[in-house]
Amino acid sequence: MSMEKIVNLAKRRGFAYQSSEIYGGLASCWDYGPVGVELKRNVKDAWWREMAQARRDIVGIDSSILMHPRVWEASGHIEGFTDPLVDCKSCKQRFRADHISGDRCPECGGELTAARRFNLMFKTFMGPVEDTASTVFLRPETAQGIFVNFQNVQTASRQKIPFGIAQVGKSFRNEITPGNFLFRTREFEQMEMEFFVKPGDDERWFHYWQEERLSWYLRYGMRRENLRIRPHGADELAHYAKACADIEYHFPFGWSELEGIANRTDYDLRRHTEYSGKDLRYFDEEARERYFPYVIEPAAGADRATLAFLVDAYYEDEVEGEPRVVLRFHPKLAPIKAAVFPLLRKDGQPERALEVRDIVGAHFPVHYDQAGSIGRRYRRQDEIGTPFGVTVDHQTMQDQTVTLRDRDSTEQARLPIDRLVDEIRRRIEAPFTR
Ligand code: GAP
Repeated sequence: MSMEKIVNLAKRRGFAYQSSEIYGGLASCWDYGPVGVELKRNVKDAWWREMAQARRDIVGIDSSILMHPRVWEASGHIEGFTDPLVDCKSCKQRFRADHISGDRCPECGGELTAARRFNLMFKTFMGPVEDTASTVFLRPETAQGIFVNFQNVQTASRQKIPFGIAQVGKSFRNEITPGNFLFRTREFEQMEMEFFVKPGDDERWFHYWQEERLSWYLRYGMRRENLRIRPHGADELAHYAKACADIEYHFPFGWSELEGIANRTDYDLRRHTEYSGKDLRYFDEEARERYFPYVIEPAAGADRATLAFLVDAYYEDEVEGEPRVVLRFHPKLAPIKAAVFPLLRKDGQPERALEVRDIVGAHFPVHYDQAGSIGRRYRRQDEIGTPFGVTVDHQTMQDQTVTLRDRDSTEQARLPIDRLVDEIRRRIEAPFTR
């Protein structure tokens, strides 16, 4: 299956469109459409529920995108958050030196300049004066908003080490070579959690979070054969990391990073203590000692995870001899949980179906569709991965029952309207197998 199929389906069915498309598009920025926004929201909610709300040892925050410029000096991003950039002297295209092989331009074979360091942070100005004193950066990771609030959060939540702080939010990177649809963009959302542990316990938690995060993707239906863990070599490590392992997904363009789990040591809290003059050490009441906690960080991308769930759910099969495209999302991630159809556009069925739509719609996102044959209406819902189809027919008008169709098995069951919401909820919560 090609990325082209996914990108076309995404546009046709309202998952994602290129940003500012009517003006020719803005490179590597994407807008989520009506079903895409629901899918991405479900991915973020699934992460937040399990990584912030359900656990005793994690709390959440939402910090601002713009931060004091000194933050990025302390974090090492001003100095170290760079990629090696080369220019082609003939066609003027730019490339990441570590993404090309050989010393000639991969597009035209022209001569390349020597590599120079290119900082990936977007700059802007705060207030009416555009000078160096007012320069601020759009954050390239959400993590720093967590580190600078470490003491605020620990004091207010009275959490004791080991504990974590989670955050979901936008980050920005002026990537030299963005691409592959939602995979690498210049504006994206991250789902990051910084888990603070006692030095010496870090190795154990580093392995714990790799397993935990891998099982999160599996719980939401991702196929095991499309996932793997790849430890980083020493030459790949970010400037703050002692160790890192990527959870990789087998995208149509190859195995690529879905999420990184890093051992950031005490690097960030130490540096912020040095640069801010505020002592960010943790006081361990039991041990009666003060120390800089180590940090294990599972850092995922909401857009990248959304793309992986989309790719993983994509199937082409046949129903009654007709080919169909079906997205077999876990029902918890499916953008629309149920679609309601009148079998016929007469005999009061549309009116009754709209009433049923509103009953179900009070609990879940639903679609109503009365256009075209029932088969075509099912196909449209299969293409956006709606797990349940509810049909109002002539029998409904007599006994207040409807049929409930399952997206994957295409099996239908008949049940009373007043049991519909509970039954859909039960099926959403049931163990999921494709
Ligand atoms: N705080 C650590 C950190 O930011 P990272 O590996 O650079 O680590 C974490 O980013 C995750 O954020 C990646 O695994 C990926 O899912 C997502 N991500 C990073 N850059 C991205 C980009 N340009 N477009 C989309 N997602 C990106």
